[in-house]
Amino acid sequence: MGQQDRFDSVAPHYDRVFERLERRIMRPWRSRVWAEVAGCNVLEVGVGTGFNAPYYTPALRVMAVDVSMRMLLRTRAKLAARGAPVPPLAQMDVQHLAFADGAFDCAVATLVFCGVPDPIRGLRELARVVKPGGRIVLLEHMRARSPWVARIMDVLNPLAWKIIGEDINRDTVANVRAAGLRVVKDEPLWANGIVRLIVAEHS
Ligand SMILES: C[S@@+](CC[C@H](N)C(=O)[O-])C[C@H]1O[C@@H](n2cnc3c(N)ncnc32)[C@H](O)[C@@H]1O
Repeated sequence: MGQQDRFDSVAPHYDRVFERLERRIMRPWRSRVWAEVAGCNVLEVGVGTGFNAPYYTPALRVMAVDVSMRMLLRTRAKLAARGAPVPPLAQMDVQHLAFADGAFDCAVATLVFCGVPDPIRGLRELARVVKPGGRIVLLEHMRARSPWVARIMDVLNPLAWKIIGEDINRDTVANVRAAGLRVVKDEPLWANGIVRLIVAEHS
């Protein structure tokens, strides 16, 4: 099953499964992410069902994309039902973005790069569509720094990929650097750094 089909099938259940986690844990992390956004013209990739939308301030012009059309439809329906502004939405794979070079001041992705088949390619695409000097802000879970926890993650990873379509043992900070970006912030948020806030710029 490809990522698009996988996330299309997850979309109708996504909010129900993640709402409690969202309320209990995720919200302060999302505030941290959006506090790092600089400039007004922002691309959000892997928007999912729109959990970041409450953090879009009126000063921001957000364009949101996702590989899954069903996720985009959930975002649209959810925001419209709340009477919240619906940003422009487009079905797009972060590995092949249909935007011009330097089209955005900033890009944001939360919990996306664990599932992108070629994350370095996706990160290079973000670097291309963000203006020189612009920021790429990521919230990602990744391989633990503790060697024994990392080993357990490595062992469980094939199962995680099969069930949820995500790698649980990626080194996304290394991938950001491999994509030619400079990491200007790398902050552990949870479980000894398994969840991290990363801010990167053109090197
Ligand atoms: C775990 S969900 C996170 C959703 C949202 N960002 C959040 O924080 O709740 C991952 C999202 O990334 C999207 N995604 C996965 N691979 C993608 C790709 N190659 N290009 C664009 N979106 C992708 C999925 O469709 C899904 O909506």
